Amino acid sequence: MADKIATLHLPGKEPVELPILSGTLGPDVIDVRKLGAQGYFTFDPGFMATGSCKSSITYIDGDQGVLLHRGYPIAQLATQASYLEVCYILLYGEAPTKAQYAEFERMVMRHTMVHEQIVYFFRGFRRDAHPMAIMCGVVGALSAFYHDALDINNEQHREICAFRLLSKMPTLAAMSYKYSVGQPFMHPRNGLSYAGNFLHMMFGVPTEEYKVNPIVERAMDRIFTLHADHEQNASTSTVRLAGSSGANPFACISAGIASLWGPAHGGANEACLKMLEEIGSVDRIPEFIEKAKDKNDPFRLMGFGHRVYKNHDPRAQVMRQTCHEVLEELQIKDPLLAVAMELERIALSDAYFIEKKLYPNVDFYSGIIMKAIGIPVSMFTVIFAMSRTIGWIAHWNEMLSDPDQKIGRPRQLYVGASEREFTPLEQR
Ligand code: SDX
Repeated sequence: MADKIATLHLPGKEPVELPILSGTLGPDVIDVRKLGAQGYFTFDPGFMATGSCKSSITYIDGDQGVLLHRGYPIAQLATQASYLEVCYILLYGEAPTKAQYAEFERMVMRHTMVHEQIVYFFRGFRRDAHPMAIMCGVVGALSAFYHDALDINNEQHREICAFRLLSKMPTLAAMSYKYSVGQPFMHPRNGLSYAGNFLHMMFGVPTEEYKVNPIVERAMDRIFTLHADHEQNASTSTVRLAGSSGANPFACISAGIASLWGPAHGGANEACLKMLEEIGSVDRIPEFIEKAKDKNDPFRLMGFGHRVYKNHDPRAQVMRQTCHEVLEELQIKDPLLAVAMELERIALSDAYFIEKKLYPNVDFYSGIIMKAIGIPVSMFTVIFAMSRTIGWIAHWNEMLSDPDQKIGRPRQLYVGASEREFTPLEQR
């Protein structure tokens, strides 16, 4: 892949020739691996211009607002494929035949139950525990139940772990919600769709038959798809780094959940709803727009901006359309949507946001849809984590299949004290 060379002139050294590698799409990369031998490290806090790996799973063009999963545009997948089809595509690289899809769906829907002992993990949490705190703990603990398939170098073991995680995340997520409201856990119903079963476990009660609303089911499935994967974002990079040490997949996914929880990342949907509730009415928007511009004010418009998208987030466009469909079809007049629409209109016409290229991202609309569906704000990021589990698994799997794979171990620019003598306490 290297037919171009970058020549680096370092002080007092012979010019260093660094290979330039080209991929299928997107910027070329400069292979800097030999720089270490020249006594240099690269320096790129936040990895703004650093490629951590080769990948064929997802491609993003932030300037053009392009998002492809295995080459398929997100808008086509979100409107023409089910989430489980997208899971198959992310995991195996190609769209499944009808027979392949039927087998994949059967496998996913027959691993939905969790070990009965896991119920006791929940008892250790306070009822008001944040569901993300529960998910970090319980997902990581799953490795204690599956000693039979934890050899990460065994492809079959990796595949069964993928099914167990994909199948059980909705069950555990719904359990974390039910525990918080003091209702009994609902057993999965394998005859329902993936999204339908999740809604059943979330909102069903043992005392009556739960009817899945097809509009809500479709919106939920689309939210899962729009959050399924997103290249080397913070939580996916966390999963890759944890996996590079050989940690088991359940521990790696738990690390991904922890990283996603941050308000700058997956926690933004919850933070965005709280922000809309704090704004409260259209006439208070200008006050918050000014706060967002104020360098001395830590406030940021949650749901706006993106490290990669310096144009529109293609997921936000599909999410916006879904948002209007759901509210229209469910006849919900959510005053927060009026605030969100006016905030979007003002932000998109404001010179600061235009100059900084701050557009609504995927989290801006997802929160409004989930609120309309009746999902509590504290569950928003849990649903993001559930949806992203397939992306984390696909990247974890790709990393372990890469022959060049090594343990991730970045270096640093050391700015601390030079070597000095230590004076023992009794002499200080
Ligand atoms: C997700 O990586 C991914 O792909 C993530 C994700 C995925 O699917 O995995 O897409 C999911 O995390 C979406 C992003 C959700 N986060 C939010 O909505 C939180 C609000 N957004 C910001 O925190 C911020 O935009 C980030 C974290 C998303 C991106 O930050 P960057 O790329 O590090 O940019 P930055 O913080 O350096 O900001 C650039 C400038 C700054 O101003 P200057 O210092 O240049 O003067 O833009 C300003 C920032 O102050 N800015 C904002 C802003 N976001 C950036 N100002 C007001 N409101 C905002 N939301």
